[in-house]
Amino acid sequence: MKADVLLGLQWGDEGKGKIVDFLTPKYNVVARFQGGPNAGHTLEFDGIKHVLHQIPSGIFHADTINIIGNGVVLDPIIFKKEIEDLKAYNVDPISNLFISKGAQLILPIHRILDKAQEIAKGEKKIGSTLKGIGPAYQDKYARHGLRVGDVLQEDFEDRYKQLREHHLNSIPENLVGELDEISSEFLNAVDYLRTFQIVDTEYLINKELSNGAQVLCEGAQGTLLDVDFGSYPFVTSSNTISAGACSGLGLAPTKIGEVYGIFKAYCTRVGSGPFPTELFDAIGESLQKEGHEFGATTGRPRRCGWLDLPALKYSIMLNGVTQLFMMKADVLDSFEEIKVCTHYENSEGQTTTQFPGVESKDYNPVYRSFKGWQSESKAIEDYALLPAELKLYINFIEEEVGVPINLISVGPDRRQTIVKDSILV
Ligand code: GDP
Ligand code: IMO
Ligand code: MG
Repeated sequence: MKADVLLGLQWGDEGKGKIVDFLTPKYNVVARFQGGPNAGHTLEFDGIKHVLHQIPSGIFHADTINIIGNGVVLDPIIFKKEIEDLKAYNVDPISNLFISKGAQLILPIHRILDKAQEIAKGEKKIGSTLKGIGPAYQDKYARHGLRVGDVLQEDFEDRYKQLREHHLNSIPENLVGELDEISSEFLNAVDYLRTFQIVDTEYLINKELSNGAQVLCEGAQGTLLDVDFGSYPFVTSSNTISAGACSGLGLAPTKIGEVYGIFKAYCTRVGSGPFPTELFDAIGESLQKEGHEFGATTGRPRRCGWLDLPALKYSIMLNGVTQLFMMKADVLDSFEEIKVCTHYENSEGQTTTQFPGVESKDYNPVYRSFKGWQSESKAIEDYALLPAELKLYINFIEEEVGVPINLISVGPDRRQTIVKDSILV
């Protein structure tokens, strides 16, 4: 068997959590491969909304194995809280959750370093989620980080204290109190973590595949936040693209099957960095209002703008996307006019279909305009019944990017999901 990968094609928050949850009945294993508590994946069903940060979005299905892979950075304090919150919903996360020995630990000092680094950057700040992601990955690549497997070793506490000391000089005096506050919870949360199944998940996932299991790899963040291909330095610190599923889980590239690319029918971004189709007017405000565009992790308002086809094509290319899923189509229901950026033009009139990324200030987006459907889509269950203008919009995108849009999401609930191509379910 091959593992399928589901990931975001924009700047995160495309709706990955909702769709992983929707697809989970088809899968035996759901595995996170990168990122950490910077992620906020929202799932809605039976009238309840859940936001997962580090736990894979397959956790609500009792028969599914959930894996936190080696590519993830895990904060034990947030982990404990997440698990405890889940217990209120009759979920048994102990028996069907496996954590890689190789996943990096986020220590309290990493959270404080993240904050100190952002303060030091001033106006040039990345707009990080302040969860310690960057500093934890820095320690990973400096080869002195602590991994989940280390919590099982006798010298763990000594090594933890050494690493704390190592970084202590890099944080300003006024943040030491905050560090001490978080630190008091840390060792207790590590004790809790020790009660979970900490294994070599690369063996587990490959064994499951050999035994014929269906495996879904759940991406976090989005392609345009990838540390190599995003608008550096305004990126996260991991490889969010499909290749990250290989290194973050121990899967050979030949073991990857379908790559599901998720995108919103428009664009959002939270945090700093270039966003060429961003709208600063009333239309942008409407997108934010209709889409409830506020971060699931930090509550910050998300910046909003029109769909960017050069960016979408770039993401499809980097990930080898085989099927597209379009999210939040319902958010555009009331718009009279909908625009899509088809290409870019610079001040000398030169055009390009290449996504300008970090050079975007030299380029202006050129739009094609569509008539809005101005009718409600949230109760529609059948693709054929979608408004004609929405189907035109979908067909145009499919033709431009050359990949089919097989799923359309028209609301946050699990049931508000329209599958066009039946091979998906
Ligand atoms: P993720 O990080 O990719 O899992 O996405 P988030 O959970 O951060 O953000 C997506 C938000 O949109 C959440 O509040 C979802 O409940 C919501 N959502 C997902 N799909 C749809 C949709 O089709 N329509 C609407 N209106 N909301 C949606
Ligand atoms: P999910 O998985 C949206 C953004 C931050 C910031 C940049 C770096 O829910 O889609 P970091 O804390 O990683 O150092 O922040 O990346 N960012 C996200 N934006 N969704 C996310 O995750 C994000 N995770 C990080 O806002 O701009
Ligand atoms: Mg999110």
